[in-house]
Amino acid sequence: MIGLAIAWRARARGLGVTVFDGRDPGSGASSVAAGMLAPVTEAEAGERALLALGMESARRWPAFAAELRDVTGVDVGYRACGTLVVARDGDEAEALDREVALRERLGLRTARLLPSEARRREPALAPSVRLALDVPDDHAVDPRLVAAALVLAARQAGAVLHTGAGVRSVVCDGERVTGVALEDGSVVQAGQVVVAAGAWSALLEGVPASAQVPVRPVKGQTLRLLDPSGPGLLERVLRYEGGYIVPRGDGRYVLGATVEERGFDTAMTAGAAYELLRDASELVPGILELEIEELVAGLRPGTPDNGPILGAAQGVAGLLWATGHFRNGILLTPVTADLIAAELAGEPAEHAFAADRFASPAPGPAAVPAP
Ligand code: GLY
Repeated sequence: MIGLAIAWRARARGLGVTVFDGRDPGSGASSVAAGMLAPVTEAEAGERALLALGMESARRWPAFAAELRDVTGVDVGYRACGTLVVARDGDEAEALDREVALRERLGLRTARLLPSEARRREPALAPSVRLALDVPDDHAVDPRLVAAALVLAARQAGAVLHTGAGVRSVVCDGERVTGVALEDGSVVQAGQVVVAAGAWSALLEGVPASAQVPVRPVKGQTLRLLDPSGPGLLERVLRYEGGYIVPRGDGRYVLGATVEERGFDTAMTAGAAYELLRDASELVPGILELEIEELVAGLRPGTPDNGPILGAAQGVAGLLWATGHFRNGILLTPVTADLIAAELAGEPAEHAFAADRFASPAPGPAAVPAP
């Protein structure tokens, strides 16, 4: 999704764009993501720059979704539904109070709700809910619809999309990128190359050691459920210790998500389905009446500080990263596309997510042993 959005925005700036994808565009992590646009609920102490980037991207989402609808006719399922965070017991209620305090310090809009008020707003909640937090500005979108719309929008704007055409390596001439080599051995020339390969970004061959980035796969499994009687069980996104339920507004719900450090494994496991259903049904017992549509597994592109890697690669002119979006790829799509398209057009912006923050420090002077 990140690559497609960059292609669309880069075409809007008049750049010639070709996208290569070994699979169908949007069929990786984008098709597994639940689609929460949740800078406030995802906020962690010590990640203020990420919070600011997420807030800015959330602000851009309504116009991004409306523009996609206008140019493609696809409604991408943007829902300004808000989010409720709920605690199941005393320990979780204490933890939620700490989360409230953090968000108040950060000036974020949240409100503590008594269980009775939470249940008035979402009657499907179990009576066992101990405390709730209303987060009115965290919303949701349907990532599969966004990806489908972006394919259309990018093509309509004049980008050329090659699917089933995986990139094996970046091709450089000294300290300048000159193109990419595909899996079939052919080489494609390009003045600039953007790597938006998600969890696979660090596997790309041909990137000089000094320019490499620490992206690793973090597996997530999500379960798709359907209420055959239609929407109404839940209106808002519901979050709780270890998971979330995202209503699509049409009777479909996405339960997420596991967080597993298992390399490139994408097996779907019975244990994940069990845990996702167990946790969700403790809070919304009605979930167990729904039909199972799908269990899917995908790979988040994780980085050491949980932030994305955006813009110029170190020491390789013309090579740019747009990767490492970890838990926030869908949220950060509009702002990433705008930042990278601007940089491609020669207008780089200052931000805290440059690749050089992971550079190893230059070796200092050799220690001289004391006599
Ligand atoms: N954004 C939620 C997740 O990565 O599971």
